[in-house]
Amino acid sequence: MNKNIIKSLSTVFCIGTYILSYTANAAPFEVLHWWTEPGELQSKQVLVDHLKIKNIEFEDFAIVGGGGDGAIHVLQMRALSGTPPEAAQIKGPDITEWDKLSMLVSIDKLVDTRAWTNFLPEVVINDVSVDNKYMGVPINIHRVNWLWLNTKIFKRFGLAAPTTWKQFFTVADFIQAKGIKPLSMGGTPWQDALLFESIAISVLGPDNYIKAFVYFDNSVINSAAMVEAFKLFKRLHRYTSIAQQGQDWFWASQSFINDQAAMFFMGDWVKGSWTAAGKEALKDYRCVPAPGTEEVFSYNIDSFVLFKKVNTDVEQTNQKVFVNTLISPEFQIDFSKAKGSIPARQNVDLSSFDACSKQSAYDFDHKIKVPSFTQNMATSSHQQGQIIQLISDYFNSESLSAEEAVQQLDVMVKALTSK
Ligand code: GAL
Repeated sequence: MNKNIIKSLSTVFCIGTYILSYTANAAPFEVLHWWTEPGELQSKQVLVDHLKIKNIEFEDFAIVGGGGDGAIHVLQMRALSGTPPEAAQIKGPDITEWDKLSMLVSIDKLVDTRAWTNFLPEVVINDVSVDNKYMGVPINIHRVNWLWLNTKIFKRFGLAAPTTWKQFFTVADFIQAKGIKPLSMGGTPWQDALLFESIAISVLGPDNYIKAFVYFDNSVINSAAMVEAFKLFKRLHRYTSIAQQGQDWFWASQSFINDQAAMFFMGDWVKGSWTAAGKEALKDYRCVPAPGTEEVFSYNIDSFVLFKKVNTDVEQTNQKVFVNTLISPEFQIDFSKAKGSIPARQNVDLSSFDACSKQSAYDFDHKIKVPSFTQNMATSSHQQGQIIQLISDYFNSESLSAEEAVQQLDVMVKALTSK
């Protein structure tokens, strides 16, 4: 055959291969998630748009409910009935649990992940790996131990950001005396537990927090320091409004940003909803670490897993494109700017990010990293769910003492860890 024909045939072949590996088939790609609040919706749209460019038609499988408890239950039912979606927002130790059921696609077998160690931090790699193999695709990092301060209210009274719990109570009492709600708070158990988590980090210290909530070490769980953490937690109850039971974090974030409350404890996904409403870091709100936790970064890494399906070429191509899109710096930057997080990838240009994300990135590099147990980073969701419920019941009970709550926690944890 003529050399030129061979050359042009191989060029056609190469272009064909290129198109095949970078363009997906427009079959719907169903993705389970719980991003249903305004900021989350905007960030989900970033995902939809980035996939669309690559010819992936995002099919929305959204389950309302911050924190994802409802979503995980629906996913379990779908998986049991043999019809899981193509991908789902699964995080932390739950990735291992799903992998044990042999339902997940191994990301290493799908795409070349060898370069990932060059740009993913170790804590992120460990979070999405099972036995040193990638089983999830990490997209971003949220910081959970934030205290948000309403700029207008703090400026009006010339208040300084509290860095200790003592200062926090002084500021909260002052604000309450002025007839303003000191603390905004939603009405679901995980939001109560999120506040407790920051208090536990501060009272127990990062090492003992990890011992208690990652390793379920009873010597820390059943300790005087844990009782102290529960007592401190309860002292904050009087500053919260009586949130309607079941009220999601978005509504609590609204009363804070609309100047009806001075402070708010929440992970930085909340910033996404304020950005969506045109609010700006520093001008409208400030971010400081929760009192007593300035040396700690409590992390929450969003990631997706892929479910094994019929395994056709089209499906595999779509899965590859999905993974390669999610791990790309372009997507991770656009997504995190909308979500309030920082990209999971390191060494990306954060110059266009707001001051809180920049601080988050700095602190992620320089502070002690602990997994957020309320955000599925420390234990699997079935263990975490019961602990969260107990913490919330204690917070809202008028009769349960801190000592009793700690005893119940001790018994619960023993039962959860006994085989
Ligand atoms: C977390 C999730 C975040 C976030 C939050 C509130 O579990 O990781 O992405 O949006 O729930 O829904």
